[in-house]
Amino acid sequence: MELSVVILAAGQGSRMRSKLPKVLHKLAHKPLLTHVIDVAEQLDAQDIHVVYGHGGEVVREALSDRKVSWVKQEAQLGTGHAVAQAVPRLVDDHTILVLYGDVPLTTKETLQALLACVSDTSMGLLTAVLANPHGYGRIVRNSDNIVQCITEEKDATDEVRKITEVNTGILAVSGAKLKAWLGCLKNNNAQGEYYLTDIIAMAVKDGLEVKTAHAGAVEEVEGINNRSQLARIERYYQRQQAEQLMTAGVTLKDPARFDLRGTVETGTDVIIDVNVILEGEVVLGNNVEIGANCLLINAVVGEGSIILPNSIIENSVVGTACTIGPFARIRPDTILANKVKIGNFVEVKKAQVGEASKINHLSYVGDSIIGKDVNIGAGTITCNYDGANKHLTEIGDGAFIGSDSQLVAPVKIGAGATIGAGSTITSDTPAEKLTLSRSKQKSIDSWSRPQKKK
Ligand code: UD1
Ligand code: CA
Repeated sequence: MELSVVILAAGQGSRMRSKLPKVLHKLAHKPLLTHVIDVAEQLDAQDIHVVYGHGGEVVREALSDRKVSWVKQEAQLGTGHAVAQAVPRLVDDHTILVLYGDVPLTTKETLQALLACVSDTSMGLLTAVLANPHGYGRIVRNSDNIVQCITEEKDATDEVRKITEVNTGILAVSGAKLKAWLGCLKNNNAQGEYYLTDIIAMAVKDGLEVKTAHAGAVEEVEGINNRSQLARIERYYQRQQAEQLMTAGVTLKDPARFDLRGTVETGTDVIIDVNVILEGEVVLGNNVEIGANCLLINAVVGEGSIILPNSIIENSVVGTACTIGPFARIRPDTILANKVKIGNFVEVKKAQVGEASKINHLSYVGDSIIGKDVNIGAGTITCNYDGANKHLTEIGDGAFIGSDSQLVAPVKIGAGATIGAGSTITSDTPAEKLTLSRSKQKSIDSWSRPQKKK
């Protein structure tokens, strides 16, 4: 059977106390709803319908690049009413899987187990056994342990409230059956809502077997209602990712102090110290070492390179056997060749730096093309911006830039050139020659240091 997914995301999420709709709050730098859409795609769903609500236009806009069909639920009259809004778009002979935009971590494997419960004579319900089931709908079974119905907490007797098996909300059933039952829902219950959960009793009445599937971990079916739950689920997710990386052979000095907010590809024997954050798409080659407190965003780091503590690398490529930091900032569009050294308090932006070149201390290098074996002295600044436009600085192979020089772009420094310390270079300098711009040093014999008046 083909699969269609309906994701419920119309709830207000008032307990987040936020102007942002709940499903746009981020888990590992990705909106909650995006996690859910991603898993639906992994299941090869034919269609993905997202039910959004009042004020949900922001959600639609934020995820406008996703291939989903948006279904508006004008008023939030309950989970059954929410699914019913998608009915005109649901195909009878598809299996319909209902997911929740605020339950971000259900795995593909768990959902596949749930989908396996669906047949002509059965439907699937994802349940969990919780030590504290308070607030959840309870799974009511008969003496033969066969599911009879779901009763919401607010409609339940004390006896039913003792049941610890709860409804996660996630279920799967054939389109034709779902449509028929949704048409029969009533809202004569404690909350005056159209409960999706009422379809379970209807299924039983129609002679359908309600099979239950269970998640690998309770966190998989946990909904996010407030920021405390969001933080807890974030830690759970990060811990899982850390475990996966360690299994793959990465050393994490402390898996509890590592955050992956995107994806990372790792070679062998990568070592990551504490408080490292990897964001977007990161690639780390064999034997890469990342020191404490580094942030890497969409970065590629070549084999054997070492990133020393407190460095930031964004949208850049670092070659092999480089040393970066401590306290270095590599800004977007930087490409460092192999064996490059970038030292402390150095900012590099939109620059190509050739093999074995060094920028070791306190410098700003932006909009530059730097050759091989160049040595850039402490305190060098490429003056790339004239207040209106950015200009290029080019430095030839083997050049030596003396400390505290300003290279006023556009400017070219010839190969093998030496720039005297403290120079302000405003025009191109020849290859192999010493160029300096510096006022002559003098000592004044007649001068004496002022004395404090008594
Ligand atoms: C629901 C289930 C309950 C289950 C619990 C799991 C029903 C009647 N109850 O209860 O059995 O244990 O989830 O968390 O289904 N939503 C809409 N439109 C609406 C109402 C809700 O889109 O009109 C969405 C919400 O955004 C949310 C989800 O549906 O993502 C669940 O809604 P919520 O009100 O939290 O349901 P519960 O009362 O928690
Ligand atoms: Ca809920």
